[in-house]
Amino acid sequence: MFVHHKPANTGCRRHTTGPRAGTTAAGLYSGHIMAGWTEELARARLHFVTGKGGTGKTTLAAALGLALADEGKRVLLVEVEGRQGIAQAFDTAPLPYAEQRIAAGAGGGELRALHIDAEAALLEYFEMFYNLGFAGRTLRRMGAIEFATTLAPGLRDVLITGKIKECVGRTDAHGKHIYDAVVVDSPPTGRVVKFLDVTRAVTDLAKTGPIRSQADGVVRLLHSGQTAVHLVTMLEEMPVRETMEAVAELDGAELRPGAVLVNRVRPPRLPAEHVATAAEGRVDAARIRDDLAAAGVELPDATIDGLAAETVQHAIRLDAEQRARDQLAETDLPILELPESTGGVDVTALYELAESLTESGVS
Ligand SMILES: Nc1ncnc2c1ncn2[C@@H]1O[C@H](COP(=O)(O)OP(=O)(O)OP(=O)(O)O)[C@@H](O)[C@H]1O
Ligand SMILES: [Mg+2]
Repeated sequence: MFVHHKPANTGCRRHTTGPRAGTTAAGLYSGHIMAGWTEELARARLHFVTGKGGTGKTTLAAALGLALADEGKRVLLVEVEGRQGIAQAFDTAPLPYAEQRIAAGAGGGELRALHIDAEAALLEYFEMFYNLGFAGRTLRRMGAIEFATTLAPGLRDVLITGKIKECVGRTDAHGKHIYDAVVVDSPPTGRVVKFLDVTRAVTDLAKTGPIRSQADGVVRLLHSGQTAVHLVTMLEEMPVRETMEAVAELDGAELRPGAVLVNRVRPPRLPAEHVATAAEGRVDAARIRDDLAAAGVELPDATIDGLAAETVQHAIRLDAEQRARDQLAETDLPILELPESTGGVDVTALYELAESLTESGVS
């Protein structure tokens, strides 16, 4: 399996203070840093990355994994939805149910990836508690696992979170954690609280026995300071609304929201002081013509009118984005902005996004 190394052109880290904007080597716009990673988040060892469908959960989970690995940490990136999105993001073959090294980080850090498959987790679980090696194979052949997880839908989530806990808690012969951090590309906001609220699922499933005691440990971990649930969003109405709802739902379930990761931020092309008037449609076409003429550019009136109309549209978008930012600020969570990658997200862009996270203080 191919192990990625950080591309040389992203090797130098820019140290900046306060808000900044600029374009990086791969054409990414680096958004404003709103508020950085907190010390509390730096202590978390289990990071869930959720968000509305398609906002960039898989991309930013991968970037967060790379950023932490580049801090010298041993990181496990976990996929739970069976979609092989991580393999696609890293442009590698589909992941098996085994931890596999996919990237090297600075200072001995590394990133491994694991695709947790509920059926494999159930078999592993049976073997652990009941020594059912052979019977497990029979179960698999009979499709009994599908039967069991269909019968008790909550069981699937309990098995997956149980496996995640095992990875977080695993130690070497000296009692040292194998992984410094585990990052989970999680189900979308609509399903994430049900996924993480193992207490409720298990109350319905098992009152006593090994499933119960294993689940109690999972509940303790998920509700502890070791766990943070990050929310990926974009500066658009629907993802912001889902983010606000998810924060309330996480609070209600006593799960800890981590940071808001605002993805795909594009650079403003109008000075802030002109946005409000331009958004009201007040753009001075004559002035655009004069300014262009002064720069030696003569354009037909129709083109000037087109430019003015585009300016209004752009201002309306910037105005809406500002309202989205104001709403997100109400969560009182750390907010990190990640740039839109103009050419789509390839492995180089993943490293650029990781570097943006590092510049926002992720550690
Ligand atoms: N910062 C970015 N710049 C440009 N494109 C991006 C960025 N982040 C994500 N994308 C693109 O947006 C699409 C969705 O991203 P991704 O698959 O990470 O989202 P997701 O939330 O995991 O989606 P799903 O809900 O389907 O699992 C992908 O094509 C990805 O390459
Ligand atoms: Mg995804």
